[in-house]
Amino acid sequence: MELKLITTPASEIQADSLVAICFKDNSTVPELPAGTASLISEAIAAGEFDPKPLETMLVHRPAGTAARRLLVCGAGEHLDMKPVLMRKIAGAAIRALKPLKHRTVAFAFDVGLDEGLAEALACGALLADFETDRLKTDEKLREKHIDTVLVSVPEITPEIEAAFQKGQIMATAQNFTRNLVNEPSNLMTPPKLAEHARAIAAEHGLKLDILDEPRLRQLGCGALLGVAQGSIQPPCLIHLEYTPETPADASVHLALVGKGVTFDTGGVSIKPADGMEKMKYDMAGAASVLGAMIAIAQLKPAVRVSAFAPCVENMVSNNAQRPGDIVRTLSGKTVEVLNTDAEGRLILADALTYAIRHCGATHLVDAATLTGAVVVALGHIHAGLFVNNDELKESILAAAKTAGENFWQLPLDDDYNDYLKSPAADLPNIGGRWGGAVTAAKFLEAFAESKPWAHLDIAGTAWLEEGKPFLAKGPSGLPVRTFVELALAFGRR
Ligand code: BES
Ligand code: ZN
Ligand code: ZN
Repeated sequence: MELKLITTPASEIQADSLVAICFKDNSTVPELPAGTASLISEAIAAGEFDPKPLETMLVHRPAGTAARRLLVCGAGEHLDMKPVLMRKIAGAAIRALKPLKHRTVAFAFDVGLDEGLAEALACGALLADFETDRLKTDEKLREKHIDTVLVSVPEITPEIEAAFQKGQIMATAQNFTRNLVNEPSNLMTPPKLAEHARAIAAEHGLKLDILDEPRLRQLGCGALLGVAQGSIQPPCLIHLEYTPETPADASVHLALVGKGVTFDTGGVSIKPADGMEKMKYDMAGAASVLGAMIAIAQLKPAVRVSAFAPCVENMVSNNAQRPGDIVRTLSGKTVEVLNTDAEGRLILADALTYAIRHCGATHLVDAATLTGAVVVALGHIHAGLFVNNDELKESILAAAKTAGENFWQLPLDDDYNDYLKSPAADLPNIGGRWGGAVTAAKFLEAFAESKPWAHLDIAGTAWLEEGKPFLAKGPSGLPVRTFVELALAFGRR
């Protein structure tokens, strides 16, 4: 799908469909010819169409426009027209028109489209175009695509152009992440993730280091290797690095760390069969840091940013790690593996230490599908945010707000350390029955070495259980946009 800014007046745009955004007071953007406008008012009066957000109505042969069809999209009150809503409305329009095989779709703004809205429109349209059916062989599915999205504005200013571009960069990066997460685990293995990282580095001029098993052993990444040992798939730790030409502060090195478990059987502490197939998305954290780097390489914030993705497969086998095994982490701390299903924190522990001690990371944010407990606590609406530093917390929440992604802070009080006691090692890898998302975070915090660090538990939000009018069901691509906004904000400090 290609997006283009144009200045053609709404009524003259040659397209399969023109999208009109319709508010509660029956007014529309763009303003429509009187006959068509009254037709919409009539439908609203008759209760056939409610101009509330995400409602749509298709009008055939609209009078006075060159487009074949008109898609009226509800938008609620005028004042509600913020980027978050624009992203959804643009998406809902695309997903309403795509099954109709409309090839060219036009949006038109006869009144000002600000930068935030232009970005959101481009982003929402591209995110809505994503599907999870790559491996379906029915050719008919491929016919349902939109080739061109035209966006008409009174004047194409450099600011609008840049914002429109940024929205596309964001969505393309996020869709890249969603594609990786959607792949089944027989096709998306640690070496495959490394291959993707290699392609990203080559295409976007990033520095790449892939630590393979011998190097991980030499370094002493015992926690990561313990998880990996049950699988025939070789583990790796991916390190992608972006260096700005002139950093705002040369002493800052932001590390984005993503859990890359390409399949999580639970290991010997095996998971129930029901729903186990979902554990292909246990590498969503890794996919999100890779996706974020694609956007960061293009948007060029004035801050050094690295992505670290520890990648393993957590399997059951003759060689698998046993409950009760004690491993030595890269930090030197020993961990008693009381439950082999709490594997994410083990691989992240070594990745955090590597980022800090071997690469000089000064600020760290990890994303991980870490616990079922966070899903119990927050459902599929908010991801859990755990953070040991107030300034970083404010930066992340501000970035998340701009990005339109939801995080809810959960506690990190030291009292929770009482739940993390091992008689035989420095730490156990699980707490007790309660507060599972918090004890997982406390475990990670022990490896952050008092650097400003945040942990995003995306177990409930990395995968959409239900499709939305503006998004396909499946991988959400969270938190790619927050990561990118955070890097941009760091570059402005
Ligand atoms: N990958 C899972 C967490 C998960 C659960 C992700 C549901 C997505 C949806 C993680 O490795 C895990 O199994 N965690 C255990 C920890 C427990 C053994 C302390 C869990 O949450 O049950
Ligand atoms: Zn697990
Ligand atoms: Zn897991």
